[in-house]
Amino acid sequence: MAKDSIITNDKLSMVDEKNPLIFYGSQMKHDEKDCAIAQELPVPLIDLGGFFSGDPTTAQQASRLVGEACRSHGFFLVVNHGVDANLISNAHRNMDMFFNLPLSEKQKAERKIGEHCGYASSFTGTFLSKLPWKETLSFQYSAKEDSLHIVEEYFQRTMGESFNNLGNVYQEYCNSMSTLSLSIMELLGMSLGVQKNHFKDYFKDHESIMRINYYPPCQNPELTLGTWPHYDPTSLTILHQDCVSGLQVFVDNEWHSINPNSNAFVVNIGDTFMALSNGIFKSCLHRAVVNNYSPRISLVFFLCPNKDKVVRSPTELVDSNNPRIYPDFTWPTLLKFTQKHHPADTNTLQAFS
Ligand code: SIN
Ligand code: FE2
Repeated sequence: MAKDSIITNDKLSMVDEKNPLIFYGSQMKHDEKDCAIAQELPVPLIDLGGFFSGDPTTAQQASRLVGEACRSHGFFLVVNHGVDANLISNAHRNMDMFFNLPLSEKQKAERKIGEHCGYASSFTGTFLSKLPWKETLSFQYSAKEDSLHIVEEYFQRTMGESFNNLGNVYQEYCNSMSTLSLSIMELLGMSLGVQKNHFKDYFKDHESIMRINYYPPCQNPELTLGTWPHYDPTSLTILHQDCVSGLQVFVDNEWHSINPNSNAFVVNIGDTFMALSNGIFKSCLHRAVVNNYSPRISLVFFLCPNKDKVVRSPTELVDSNNPRIYPDFTWPTLLKFTQKHHPADTNTLQAFS
């Protein structure tokens, strides 16, 4: 658990079935077995090495498996993704260090109400009753030519020069995520049968978000959640979880776990890509549970379109049998709508369709 964090043992011991107030509320208590032994979700493990090699048979096979997964729940794993394993472990290690800093240090990057970026702890500055059991640090990334150092600048501006090293690590990590996400866009384009570069070109000037989740151990994990059930409003999510499990996906009326595999990234479709695919690829409800034995870190990169781009599915995906099911919108509009009008477990796109 984070040293000097305000999630103290005192607070932990206050929590029991009669005092669930600081969590989600008693009606939200979920079955312990639900989180401890959730069945694993069968998701395809896509070897991107074969796809990158340009071998058409391997590429076809990868695109078929991805297509099947995305039509059903939108989750798949990628291995041989080209991201340096040392960079990934460095990204985990540095965040472990960050979340173990005194609260006063972390608060230098405090997330202001209404903003998407910065450090947030459920236990500071909020009176909401639905409090997730986690701390997060989020920042923006941009693939635009004039924003090559956006992450490094963020760390320096908010936390000072002593955080330059962290800035370098996450700039590099986000650069890798950007490259990987554009390759996955190529694969998704193939799976949908649109022009190979359609989505890759569409996202080339993306303005995305990186979020690191830190879930401290919790003495009563069945009374709370790390991340509330939600659909990602973004386009594509690329997540790396450490060796502690916690990610669960709601498929066929049941929660299923996605077990950690440190060689793999978990990829899932978000609402914006669901709209870009004219509803063919699904965005799926998911959440993170917590445990009473170990902290957990997840590194999450959210690919989002450039704020000026209109979200509209390509003409290949629309015909008289499959009419366009979403109106044109931009990513900032959807994001505003998500925050203002919808509980986390409702797919925002439902209101648009
Ligand atoms: C998320 O979906 O936002 C986080 C899930 C996780 O930490 O595994
Ligand atoms: Fe998510």
